[in-house]
Amino acid sequence: MSETSPKLRAELEGIPTYKPGKPASAEGPVAFKLSSNENPYPPLPGVMERVAAAVAEFNRYPDMACGGLMAELAERFGVPVSHLATGTGSVGVAQQLVQATSGPGDEVIYAWRSFEAYPIITRISGATPVQVPLTPGDVHDLDAMADAITERTRLIFVCNPNNPTGTVVRRAELERFLDRVPKDVLVVLDEAYREFIRDPEVPDGVELYRERPNVCVLRTFSKAYGLAGLRVGFAIAHEPVAAALRKTAVPFGVSHVAQEAAIASLQAEDELLGRVGSLVCERARVVDALRAQGWTVPETQANFVWLRLGERTMEFAAACEDHGVVVRPFAGEGVRVTVGENEANDMFLKAAEAFRRETAD
Ligand SMILES: Cc1ncc(COP(=O)(O)O)c(C=O)c1O
Repeated sequence: MSETSPKLRAELEGIPTYKPGKPASAEGPVAFKLSSNENPYPPLPGVMERVAAAVAEFNRYPDMACGGLMAELAERFGVPVSHLATGTGSVGVAQQLVQATSGPGDEVIYAWRSFEAYPIITRISGATPVQVPLTPGDVHDLDAMADAITERTRLIFVCNPNNPTGTVVRRAELERFLDRVPKDVLVVLDEAYREFIRDPEVPDGVELYRERPNVCVLRTFSKAYGLAGLRVGFAIAHEPVAAALRKTAVPFGVSHVAQEAAIASLQAEDELLGRVGSLVCERARVVDALRAQGWTVPETQANFVWLRLGERTMEFAAACEDHGVVVRPFAGEGVRVTVGENEANDMFLKAAEAFRRETAD
């Protein structure tokens, strides 16, 4: 056998691997998974029924154009179907956006720390990541991001609320930023957690997109709608961006089951958003309790909280596991904890309290 291996693209070397949130273990002390910002509620009966019917047809390819889902989305958001594109989760659509805009020599700007897929999908495309540090308060530094734009910039991600900090950028600062971005640079407003926002000063990206042809909004069914395992997300963007997304999509990437579940979820939106309301109440309870314990917690508008633990991050994550919850550590930086079932949140709060007490000694 020859020693020579097939030639692979040099860009792939050193690309960090996406780290999924650790699962809860069947045995052992970890009973709850608070590491992937999932929705803790099981699927609604109506959604399950529609999915069960769709499962019976999986010998057929799905509708490649996602016609039924596109029609629902067009109506729900008041946008033409030609301004919509779907993908295998919003991370799939984000990758298509990078592929459609950026290659070797081009730059993609995003805040750091932010969603960990951004550096991966940028480098897979051969483009250069430009990471702009968050402010000391863990918020996007939009002025610094605008200052980082060069003639090589092709795409800018603004993650609002930001994963993993939960922090938001508000209307006035976002509009000021968008005014500074050249019209031929695409700004992607990643709103994976949009439904959890309660701050009225945070703009709905869809309103910003209407006036600005270089703004694209990314949304997902994975979080508020509880379909993380089915992989369906979408973008709202003007032509020619939406058309480019349809071109770069993996053919038949969104399964029939996912399409049917997404349609059923849009039709059951009131009930699903009621559940989101309960999670938002839980979020307030968790944040208040953490602050009462003495933690510094940035204001979060997502379904998770961020604790900047620095060198103690891994120790804290291990302590949480001992208390029965698995969280998402970013070594040397901090821990992101999803707001989950009340019982899981209680277990996490106990772990946080015990950790503070022990480390205060
Ligand atoms: C900010 C952000 N964008 C996009 C995604 C991707 O979600 P999905 O591919 O499940 O739609 C996530 C998932 O964690 C996220 O946090």
